[in-house]
Amino acid sequence: FQPKPLAGCRVLLTAGPTFERIDAVRGITNTSSGKMGFAVARAAWEAGAEVTLVAGETPLPTPIGCRRIDVRSAEEMLGAVEAELRGTDIFIAVAAVADYYVLNQSEHKIKKDAHILTLELAPNPDILARVACGDNPPFCVGFAAESENLLEYAEAKRHRKQLPLLVANLVQQAMGADDNEVILLDDQGQHRLPRGPKLEVARQLIAHVARLYGER
Ligand code: PMT
Repeated sequence: FQPKPLAGCRVLLTAGPTFERIDAVRGITNTSSGKMGFAVARAAWEAGAEVTLVAGETPLPTPIGCRRIDVRSAEEMLGAVEAELRGTDIFIAVAAVADYYVLNQSEHKIKKDAHILTLELAPNPDILARVACGDNPPFCVGFAAESENLLEYAEAKRHRKQLPLLVANLVQQAMGADDNEVILLDDQGQHRLPRGPKLEVARQLIAHVARLYGER
């Protein structure tokens, strides 16, 4: 017998990298593999939730039981999240979303010549902040990957985005890796989870989310 603390809940997640187009063949992306977000999606399904996973480009197979929507850019990810938001009880933003998109994109492949090429970058919408600060928001969980001052920067993000729970991890340990070590930051303080395979970490995270969601 497995307890299903999220039975009857709808969970929406983002995972993986976004890709911002420069021209017909080039773009800006990052090294997120999607492994952490896919593991959290699976753990949510195991806990009884109905799960929708909005995924940036990754070759990972769809986690068992989850509905998957593939997207490329941050703009597309925002569109998919907004389209799926109605009826969502819990939103978990694991994706590494590009902070900027390229304003002066080229339809065709840019040809090399002797001139200096300048890319103009404009800020992308913050998907999590939009959801968390919207009308009647779901229970929102953010992630923060930092390369230094982990707790200080992560706590600042939690307050800026008004999140009941934020998952802090180090870029060097988390990005692309099979294992992870995270610290959960909530109104009660800090909770360090032991280092382990991402699915194990995800199961403990989902147990914590279910507790907080139940107490809210
Ligand atoms: O995919 P893996 O290789 O398994 O790696 C996992 C991970 C390191 C990507 C993951 O564990 C993680 O930490 N994801 C968040 C990455 C990050 O640092 O995000 P951020 O600090 O840019 O954003 C903070 C939060 O806001 C995140 O929940 C992010 O999804 C969200 N965000 C950020 C920008 C934006 N435009 N929209 C957002 O929703």
